[in-house]
Amino acid sequence: MFEVKSQPYASKREHYDDLVQQVRGLLAGESSLIANAANFSALIYHSLPDVNWAGFYLYDGTELVVGPFQGKPACIRIALGRGVCGTAAQSRQTQLVRDVNAFEGHIACDAASQSEVVVPLVKAGGTLLGVWDVDSPVIDRFDDEDREGMEKLCAVFMESVRG
Ligand code: SME
Repeated sequence: MFEVKSQPYASKREHYDDLVQQVRGLLAGESSLIANAANFSALIYHSLPDVNWAGFYLYDGTELVVGPFQGKPACIRIALGRGVCGTAAQSRQTQLVRDVNAFEGHIACDAASQSEVVVPLVKAGGTLLGVWDVDSPVIDRFDDEDREGMEKLCAVFMESVRG
């Protein structure tokens, strides 16, 4: 049994499916990027165990700039190709890092972070919006089910983004 905040879920997948429904409800009818990004971060940060940072880095046309998030204050600007976030943005591939200490170029905003998953956010026309980054103080916190779950959540988030 996979338990989250005393709520029993048959599996991690079932928990992500539930979160996807919650995100749909939370973002329904609202198109403000900042409002939706802030609520999305808060919901996920408070729903997943062993997470110390969850938030957005938004692409300003040159580099990634920190956006709405939950957790400790973070690095503000990250160049494309730098760190886990910059790598996800440049490659447009989700980065699942089981041990950040083993990722060359990892940017340690919070020394407590040990593992992370970063999903690139690309608009329908192919323009980069930014990345979604979740950090954990536990090594090996995220697996392929988390990657899949985060990608589904981000797909719902991107449906709320205009243009
Ligand atoms: N660790 C990230 C930087 C962002 S913070 O973790 C919030 C990276 O290497 O890109």
